[in-house]
Amino acid sequence: MKNTKINPVPVQFIPVLSFLLLLLSVTAQKNATNPIDVAAVTLVRSAFPALGLNSTLADPCLPTPYSWVTCNSDDNPRIIALNCGNKNLSGVLVDFSSMDALEIIDFSNNNLTQGFPDFLSKFPKLKELNLAHNNLSGTVPLSLENNKNLKLTLTGNQLCFSDDDVCPLSLKEKLKTIAFVIVMAACIIILL
Ligand SMILES: *[C@@H]1O[C@H](CO)[C@@H](O)[C@H](O)[C@H]1NC(C)=O
Ligand SMILES: *[C@@H]1O[C@H](CO)[C@@H](O)[C@H](O)[C@H]1NC(C)=O
Ligand SMILES: *[C@@H]1O[C@H](CO)[C@@H](O)[C@H](O)[C@H]1NC(C)=O
Ligand SMILES: *[C@@H]1O[C@H](CO)[C@@H](O)[C@H](O)[C@H]1NC(C)=O
Ligand SMILES: *[C@@H]1O[C@H](CO)[C@@H](O)[C@H](O)[C@H]1NC(C)=O
Repeated sequence: MKNTKINPVPVQFIPVLSFLLLLLSVTAQKNATNPIDVAAVTLVRSAFPALGLNSTLADPCLPTPYSWVTCNSDDNPRIIALNCGNKNLSGVLVDFSSMDALEIIDFSNNNLTQGFPDFLSKFPKLKELNLAHNNLSGTVPLSLENNKNLKLTLTGNQLCFSDDDVCPLSLKEKLKTIAFVIVMAACIIILL
């Protein structure tokens, strides 16, 4: 019986304490943004430092969302909109397709460059995609063009649509095609 007196926490309180600790950790987790969305939004922030300037808070949705995201009201909120128009962003859009709750993606009036970001055709709930007035080139995926539920705004780029028969091949695409033909011809000659 002497041994029990040495124990700093009375034995009968241990289950109560454990329960309280468990409860604390559960409530703490409940009020954080979905970790997949956090990872993807962190990627977007690191690609475009101009966005990060105004989002010093660790969690993108809680307690107050970043000025350029919209979140839903789930216990673990999902990000449902990226409102990144007019942010002076330059460069290539990083693949954030894991944010699959997105309904609105707006990167209009920036300086996004290079080919059309094909991952943008992967969002199952997308209602609005606005990439107007950037510096994008290449071909818009058919699945986006054909999505009747999508409000698609792409004016002010150098994009072409896949049913456009005057869609010019870029120099890179032309070289790729030529290289492919040469390789095929070589293979056929070797086989013969
Ligand atoms: C967690 O969120 C719920 C509902 O959104 C709220 O009622 C509760 O007070 C929050 N808990 C903490 C620890 O912020
Ligand atoms: C950050 O956002 C808040 C509200 O959205 C705005 O008032 C503030 O001027 C912004 N700060 C910067 C540095 O962009
Ligand atoms: C926009 O970004 C460029 C660099 O990409 C920078 O030189 C310029 O100052 C920025 N403009 C504004 C208004 O922040
Ligand atoms: C588009 O890219 C070209 C060449 O990289 C650049 O000179 C031009 O300023 C860009 N347009 C916009 C709107 O940023
Ligand atoms: C747009 O991006 C291109 C390539 O990154 C860069 O050369 C150009 O200066 C940018 N234009 C503006 C207005 O930031």
